[in-house]
Amino acid sequence: EKVDLILPKDFPTLKNDAFLCACRGQETSHVPVWCMRQAGRYLPEFRESRAGKDFFDTCRSPEACCELTLQPIRRFPFDAAIIFSDILVIPQAMGMDVQMLSGKGPTFPEPLKEPEDLLLLQPKVDVNKELGYVFKAITLTRHKLEGKVPLIGFTGAPWTLMAYMIEGGGSTTHSKAKRWLYRHSEASHKLLRMLTDVIVDYLLGQVAAGAQALQVFESHAGCLGPVEFKEFSLPYLRDIARRVKDQLKESGQDVPMIVFAKDGHYGLEDLSQSYYDVVGLDWTIDPRSARERTGGKVSLQGNMDPCALYAPKERISEIVKRMLEGFGTRGYIANLGHGLYPDMDPENVGAFVEAVHTHSRNILNH
Ligand code: CP3
Repeated sequence: EKVDLILPKDFPTLKNDAFLCACRGQETSHVPVWCMRQAGRYLPEFRESRAGKDFFDTCRSPEACCELTLQPIRRFPFDAAIIFSDILVIPQAMGMDVQMLSGKGPTFPEPLKEPEDLLLLQPKVDVNKELGYVFKAITLTRHKLEGKVPLIGFTGAPWTLMAYMIEGGGSTTHSKAKRWLYRHSEASHKLLRMLTDVIVDYLLGQVAAGAQALQVFESHAGCLGPVEFKEFSLPYLRDIARRVKDQLKESGQDVPMIVFAKDGHYGLEDLSQSYYDVVGLDWTIDPRSARERTGGKVSLQGNMDPCALYAPKERISEIVKRMLEGFGTRGYIANLGHGLYPDMDPENVGAFVEAVHTHSRNILNH
């Protein structure tokens, strides 16, 4: 196959480094912007490419992932691309069956029920063998981006993946997964450690393949309280960043890492001191108070309410202006507070991107 001949070397020179500079707190000529789920169903070309194909089959095709990643970059002047994939490829690599059912979302036919079920998981995962298709997608996409913008790799965080593996799909209460935390705390830690080990190898593999930044999605932080967060989420998030950074440093590399703990505002101070360069924020946090609570220790990313994209363009522009004034233009990456929804108007996404660029250039030139 041709994609096997494409190697992670001689990548095109990066032409727009605003996103990477902002991750490191360095000055930029404009505030960089990208959107979570920018490769998604709100784009007609995405729906056309995905039509009639199984979701995880698409994830396993490097050519398809590359095309879907590039689609939003062709349409909008985003300052970063994020590889099309899914967080649930890790439970699959550990031996679990996961399907994407239309109208239902991700579904595990046989979720973990009791601690004994941990014995059914692959204890050691060879990420090159099980997740090499993601690495190939990253290498191919980094070449095909032609240096236009940097490419972000990502993973789900241990608690979020554990929650899916026990719930067997989406959930409002996460009561099955939280039952483990209160009833089987030792087994919970064992599972979280197993996931952490795979995640560290997976992220390092993504960097070796060409990822220029990494985002860790703790999408289910919100169903934990501060005490459970400190025990079951934070230590693993920290361990991931420390181990990935240490390993990269040994080979002289420094790749920015972003942590996004959705609805985890109670953990903001801790997250800003957890070896990550950037803390991603959902829309429930006020920009100024986020700055105060993180004390200039990290860059911030976020956090417009995705639903603000339903507003008329002039209103979007005002909301963006106020958001920029709240965060300031240094050490800031504009984004939404969560992913784009399928019914959003691509035109308004374009208006959001343009508002970030225009208002931030105005502020920086005065
Ligand atoms: O553009 C991007 O942001 C990159 C691609 C990306 C996808 N999933 C593609 C996708 C990323 C970063 C993810 C991560 C992901 N997947 C998360 C963490 C981010 C978050 O939203 O909190 C989670 C929780 C998942 C699990 C998952 N995958 C869900 C809940 C769904 C939605 C199911 C539904 O039917 O609405 C998916 C499917 C999925 N992953 C889609 C996309 C574009 C839509 C389905 C499709 O393309 O057919």
